[in-house]
Amino acid sequence: MTTAKLIDGKAFAGQMRENIGRRVASLKEEHGPVPGLAAVLVGEDPASQVYVRNKEKQTAEAGMASVGRKLQADISQEDLLAVVAELNADPSVHGILVQLPLPDHISDKAVIETINVAKDVDGFHPVNVGALSSGDEGLVPCTPRGCMMLLKDTLGDLTGKNAVVVGRSNIVGKPIAQLLLAANCTVTIAHSRTQDLPGLCRTADILIAAVGRAQMIKGDWIKPGATVIDVGINRIDADDGKSRLVGDVDFNEAAQVAGAITPVPGGVGPMTIACLLENTLIACCRQNGLEVPGA
Ligand code: GUN
Repeated sequence: MTTAKLIDGKAFAGQMRENIGRRVASLKEEHGPVPGLAAVLVGEDPASQVYVRNKEKQTAEAGMASVGRKLQADISQEDLLAVVAELNADPSVHGILVQLPLPDHISDKAVIETINVAKDVDGFHPVNVGALSSGDEGLVPCTPRGCMMLLKDTLGDLTGKNAVVVGRSNIVGKPIAQLLLAANCTVTIAHSRTQDLPGLCRTADILIAAVGRAQMIKGDWIKPGATVIDVGINRIDADDGKSRLVGDVDFNEAAQVAGAITPVPGGVGPMTIACLLENTLIACCRQNGLEVPGA
């Protein structure tokens, strides 16, 4: 029996994309620029191909320009950096996203540091990372931003809540910890070396699961009434011989204890692209010295 409220990220993201579409249209009506997003995909990783296809479709649906660069897995780092430099110099491109992970012979760091900070709609460039930690204006990573929107929509003011983030990645764990701190939560970042992880999780009013291990977080790790945000997307073999997507939380167990929980799929996932589109709109307006419409 599910007792927890389901946090419907799919519906929230759909409304957000409609809102972004209206803001893009009003920018155009005032003869402003059309926001442009470039997605760079290296190689043929199936999950990355799906993400990039969805990004391109939703970018176009929001009335933005979409630029795709599909590159061979054996492209040299030098040639990839040249593609990024070309996009940096293109005034019709306001946001650049290089899909991670990259092949082993290419340094993620070298690529991320080559992206123009103003076009870094993933928020992964060290200058944007620094801006987030010092509270300056920058571009904020999309998945963490999406999680915060869902949390604020569910709980309102987060002041004073105990938040436990399980996972310390640069893409999710660390930036979401910064955002929770900025929202006046008391934040603990847990990881694979944390002692008594179940006991620590049970102290959380807000539990963020971002470890990438299928159904690792069990129902008895959750404080009754807590809000659980599951960032994990893991493919597992199902009983019927097919595969299915599950999160980092054991949903059936957790939903009997938590106050509110995001499902997988349909929770955090759709929020990432919606936030990417909004970051592209923001980046476009800033690059053109314009107010962000509807902001
Ligand atoms: N791979 C998985 N998530 C992301 C993301 O948010 N941005 C990029 N660039 N690559 C990813």
